[in-house]
Amino acid sequence: MMTTSRRNFLLLAAAAALPACAGTKKIATPGVPLSPFDEDSTADEVLGDLDLTGKLVVVTGCTSGIGFETMRALAARGAWVVGTSRTREAADAACKSVPGQTTPLQLELSDFRSVVDCANAIRSINAPLDILICNAGYLGAGGAPQLVDGIERHFAINHLGHFVFVNRLLGRLYMADQGRIVVVASRAAYTSAPRAGIEFDNLDAHRDYEDRRAYGHSKLANALFALQLGTLLRGTRITANALHPGVINTEIDRNMSRFMQTGFAVATALGYGKSIAQGAATSCYVATSPALGATSGKYFEDCNAVTIVGEGHLHDAEMAARLWQVSEDLTREFLVTHRGEDLNDFERAARKRRE
Ligand SMILES: NC(=O)c1ccc[n+]([C@@H]2O[C@H](COP(=O)([O-])OP(=O)(O)OC[C@H]3O[C@@H](n4cnc5c(N)ncnc54)[C@H](OP(=O)(O)O)[C@@H]3O)[C@@H](O)[C@H]2O)c1
Repeated sequence: MMTTSRRNFLLLAAAAALPACAGTKKIATPGVPLSPFDEDSTADEVLGDLDLTGKLVVVTGCTSGIGFETMRALAARGAWVVGTSRTREAADAACKSVPGQTTPLQLELSDFRSVVDCANAIRSINAPLDILICNAGYLGAGGAPQLVDGIERHFAINHLGHFVFVNRLLGRLYMADQGRIVVVASRAAYTSAPRAGIEFDNLDAHRDYEDRRAYGHSKLANALFALQLGTLLRGTRITANALHPGVINTEIDRNMSRFMQTGFAVATALGYGKSIAQGAATSCYVATSPALGATSGKYFEDCNAVTIVGEGHLHDAEMAARLWQVSEDLTREFLVTHRGEDLNDFERAARKRRE
């Protein structure tokens, strides 16, 4: 009989490699400019000769894989990049290893106190925030559910941690000429998530737990988060979009068995995937392309906005609104009210100037 980890690997690999799951079709999203880039484009190619001097950027999960390459490519264009890791030492090492202006910070997304502390450290920079890339991600391979304060771990880290983080930094994004929120989701949002979408009655994973399903569930939450941000931020200068970076052999498989890691490496080497430079391209494109100044609430693959037709809940506005409400209820004590009672001097002065 096949072990759970082998079965999970095969399902993950299949979900990653297939063009789309049966019953779904991918079409270009109407109303979004087509980009000249595709699945082969790299982060450096999509950024071209853009000058990002004076832009403040935050990249969560900057120590490896897509986040590291995203930070490197943006810093190389003159952006000031704040890069985060679960440990300050790893963030330090990653930031030191790329040319340009970078600042390392500690962020543990499963600990909302740490999320608040990290956001406050960014607010102490006293500058508008131009780009916030929610890139950090967790993929478990334990076969049994793990909980963070009663909530399934993938959902808590990949979605709720970033939900709190974005909420605490919205004020700074408002100050930017054009603030951008980029949420690195995954096509697992429609290939591996539960058929019913977000399982509001199963956030503690008391039934039907599988790692890939829980990961897909959290990635669907990422995509719906960007969709609802797009709705709530309509009429402001902030945009929010989600994306699938591609299938890339990074450290995302760190919790898998040696067998699964080898299989993932072989699958990506055989061409079922992208290089890390290509994997960071969609993040960099969505974060910076002048063509996307008014594009919000959309989902991107291979540097273009796509709509998944058929099965899945990627574009389910009702589910996105409910997810927002539930996420707020679950994290309320860590959120700012935006009424202004916890503004610092810089923020208070900026708000006064605006009034
Ligand atoms: N690779 C793929 O094929 C693929 C496909 C679809 C989507 N994605 C998504 O792409 C994003 C980047 O993944 P990757 O492939 O580059 O993986 P990676 O190499 O494992 O990088 C993940 C980053 O997230 C950070 N991180 C992990 N757990 C965290 C936590 N609890 N709190 C804060 N930070 C945490 C890690 O930082 P430290 O370990 O230093 O703390 C690391 O820098 C993820 O959101 C992933 O879901 C990847």
